[in-house]
Amino acid sequence: MSTTMTAASDTASPAVGGKVRLRVRRKLALADGVCGLELVAPDDGRLPDWTPGSHIDLTFANGLNRQYSLCGDRWDAHSYQVAVLREPDGRGGSAFVHDELGEGDVIDIAGPRNNFPLAPADAYLFVAGGIGITPILPMLEQAEMLGKPWRLLYGGRTRTSMAFLDRLTPWGDRVDVCPQDESGLLDLDVLGRLEAGTKVYCCGPEPLLAAVRTAAVDLPSGSLRTERFVAAAMPAPVRTTSFDLELARSGVTVTVAPGQSILEAAAEAGAPILASCRQGICGTCETDVLEGTPDHRDSMLDDDERQRGDLFYPCVSRSASDRLVLDI
Ligand code: FES
Repeated sequence: MSTTMTAASDTASPAVGGKVRLRVRRKLALADGVCGLELVAPDDGRLPDWTPGSHIDLTFANGLNRQYSLCGDRWDAHSYQVAVLREPDGRGGSAFVHDELGEGDVIDIAGPRNNFPLAPADAYLFVAGGIGITPILPMLEQAEMLGKPWRLLYGGRTRTSMAFLDRLTPWGDRVDVCPQDESGLLDLDVLGRLEAGTKVYCCGPEPLLAAVRTAAVDLPSGSLRTERFVAAAMPAPVRTTSFDLELARSGVTVTVAPGQSILEAAAEAGAPILASCRQGICGTCETDVLEGTPDHRDSMLDDDERQRGDLFYPCVSRSASDRLVLDI
């Protein structure tokens, strides 16, 4: 998504179903290599509500789809705003937005969906790297509305590459803006001095997420939530042999072979599961697990959620047990 999307990655797999068509009302240059889109319904009608941390899936005319965090005013019921970083090494999604998508064009979207919700806390520390500021912006406004103390650490390569600095100026010294070429990397020592009850929300590139995870190692479980641009590297699957997949509502049991995804097996059994990123970062394929032990291979769930084992993301996740029963 993550974050991507912030939390985001190009993928050639189009979203399945659940799409609406929106019109690009405005396209803005927000920072070096970052453009913003304001999306509205073709009839300027009301759009579905969303909460801070939500993203939408955009499906481009070239068949790619990508997830972008909503970064506008959540109380504006008639437009969505996203920001898109040009990714020179991407597969073409961001290049399409920057070079080909224009004001007045229409685009298919799915969502909003929230895999990065702001949980209740006594206080918040937000950490953003580059375009990772996008899901964080609405969180600042939410924390402010709730009257909770908060602070933001915002890093980027250069000041001119950092979007939304103008929106952050009114927050004064609660925001630390750290362009790397001026002041080096973000000082994460603050994670070792947090008041009890503080939750940390971080979105940015993998090196930042890794540094924050290290700095947060002594925080209580559940204190840190992250959203990613790309899927995390995963160890080998727990089991290398086939397993039985029971689709409870369909009353069908199939065998999932090594190398076959649960998504593929369910589709072959006549029970396709809605999917988008197929990388375990968007949450579209979330499915309830009724019996068995999932082998979680997504990049969203935290340790407690994995331990519970009552839902998983079958585009990437598998089974650790001989049999897995899903609520589909
Ligand atoms: Fe995105 Fe499974 S399709 S998490």
